[in-house]
Amino acid sequence: MKDIEKKGFLDFDIDPTLDLFSEIKKLKQEKNAIILAHYYQEPDIQDIADYIGDSLGLAQKAEKTDADIIVFAGVHFMAETAKILNPGKKVLLPDLKAGCSLSDSCPPALFKAFKARYPDHLVISYVNCSAGIKALSDIICTSSNAQLIVESLPADQRIIFAPDKNLGSYINRKTGRQMVLWNGACMVHEIFSTEKIVKLKERYPDAKVIAHPECEEQLLDVADFIGSTTQLLKYVKQSNDQVFIVATESGILHQMQINCPGKTLLAAPPDNSCACNDCPHMKLNTLEKLYLCMKYELPEITMNEELRLAAKVPIDRMLKMSREFGLGN
Ligand code: 13P
Ligand code: SF4
Repeated sequence: MKDIEKKGFLDFDIDPTLDLFSEIKKLKQEKNAIILAHYYQEPDIQDIADYIGDSLGLAQKAEKTDADIIVFAGVHFMAETAKILNPGKKVLLPDLKAGCSLSDSCPPALFKAFKARYPDHLVISYVNCSAGIKALSDIICTSSNAQLIVESLPADQRIIFAPDKNLGSYINRKTGRQMVLWNGACMVHEIFSTEKIVKLKERYPDAKVIAHPECEEQLLDVADFIGSTTQLLKYVKQSNDQVFIVATESGILHQMQINCPGKTLLAAPPDNSCACNDCPHMKLNTLEKLYLCMKYELPEITMNEELRLAAKVPIDRMLKMSREFGLGN
């Protein structure tokens, strides 16, 4: 079984006649487990999940659940956040290798040295970072609450924002602050071609361009609406417009299609010959791995208690502030 932790479930055969949907439902009941899924997961996983959300919604749901097992269909930092909030529960991630390029761009040892250069600065870190970075931070934020959190601080408060330079500079532009930015970025949101998006808009002049704030500035400049995945979904649902060019990971299109069957949803074209906007980390999780992980209760997220407690402080601050802002579920 230890091999599963290292190699994943690749070598495991699953009986092809098994109905994975009903098997997963059975396991959920037997084990009092909850499946939390990010919008970037493949459609099958979204369809079987108990809750689908953005990073803030998922953290809030993880904080409140009374399930014994949290099965996190997302990436490592998300499952780690659920574990930080639930030390007594088993937290499972279908593929332990489901990481995040943005989180990887900020190693704790380098960030510690960077932070030491700005001793009078408060550290706000985007939730897409490791527990080690969270432990070095004062407040965690997500794309749903970053602007409100920054605005709630005194105007003269000096701030380091890590690890996403695109979200950080977007918040700087929105708030007029001059936060010091860590030079990290998401490989998926930097792949879009603004030039191709503008050309696409010429073909669909009524289309609204909607973008995640992890995208680069030149793309955000042509966007009609900018928001977290939940906010993008809400925008498409509530808008009277019919055509949308969606600049974020393609998994979100599934919920947009379910909620708005009559609307035209165009995935924003990337700046390469490939036509997909998939996050290779998110898409490591599959329905098969989800089933196996629930069956064997592996791979499990474990964490050093001292690190967990240090990382929990800035997450708790974010959750408290989000409640005060009336955000999330
Ligand atoms: P949100 O879930 O805050 O929209 O962020 C998207 C993302 O990139 C998660 O990895
Ligand atoms: Fe990380 Fe980007 Fe993938 Fe989100 S989409 S998990 S930020 S690499």
